[in-house]
Amino acid sequence: MSKRVIMAAGNWKMNKTPSEAVEFVNSLKDRVAGSTAEVVVGVPFVCIPGVIEAVKGSNIKVAAQNVHWEPNGAYTGEVSCKMLKDLGVDYVIIGHSERREYFAETNEMINKKARAILDAGMTPIICCGESLTQREQGVTAEHVRYQIKVALLGLSAEEVSRIVIAYEPIWAIGTGKTATTEQAEEVCGIIRELLVELYGKDTAEKTRILYGGSVKADNAKELFAMPNIDGGLVGGASLKLDEFEKIVKHDA
Ligand code: PGA
Repeated sequence: MSKRVIMAAGNWKMNKTPSEAVEFVNSLKDRVAGSTAEVVVGVPFVCIPGVIEAVKGSNIKVAAQNVHWEPNGAYTGEVSCKMLKDLGVDYVIIGHSERREYFAETNEMINKKARAILDAGMTPIICCGESLTQREQGVTAEHVRYQIKVALLGLSAEEVSRIVIAYEPIWAIGTGKTATTEQAEEVCGIIRELLVELYGKDTAEKTRILYGGSVKADNAKELFAMPNIDGGLVGGASLKLDEFEKIVKHDA
């Protein structure tokens, strides 16, 4: 079976104003037109309307960086799936280690978010990954398997075949310290094995698994060529036009 469509997904985090965001994607869309990789920009909520408008007719898709699982109600400061869907959002990044650490997101919350995102007709990009301590303790596989197993509870095989999983070792995020290609491939392979166990080989072959953590123009090609790595979730380098363009065109 041929490899899955590679995804280059930017995670802007809390960066760029709405006007800076529009200016950025207006340049980006010409640079990445016709790319073989699927291009996604994960932008702050307030940037979404302008960015969606700007990327119309291009091959760039838009991701949100969070969502609440309830359809509506008294949740001050929160945003629902229906609101995002109404704007034209395709993907929602959930379970990022920064959200787990600073906003106390649990695997159970991530599971509820995944359910709500799929019900709304969007696709979750579910993040997982171990800390440096966990890697040193030798519990990376157990930790990541546990995170993903709980995040996917109750999802059907068909749904799992459409979601995106991002393996992001915490020690490699924003540190400039990329996991080696072998380390990244090993854990992405462990995740795919888990999907085989839970949903069967056909499903596991369809699910895209990204690597994230200091992905840059000069390491994307090698990482994305690994059998179990289907692209990258890119933080810092996705804020720079030249870098992100090169990551998208890693195979050129
Ligand atoms: P980084 O962030 O590329 O800046 O390491 C990746 C991420 O947190 O998704």
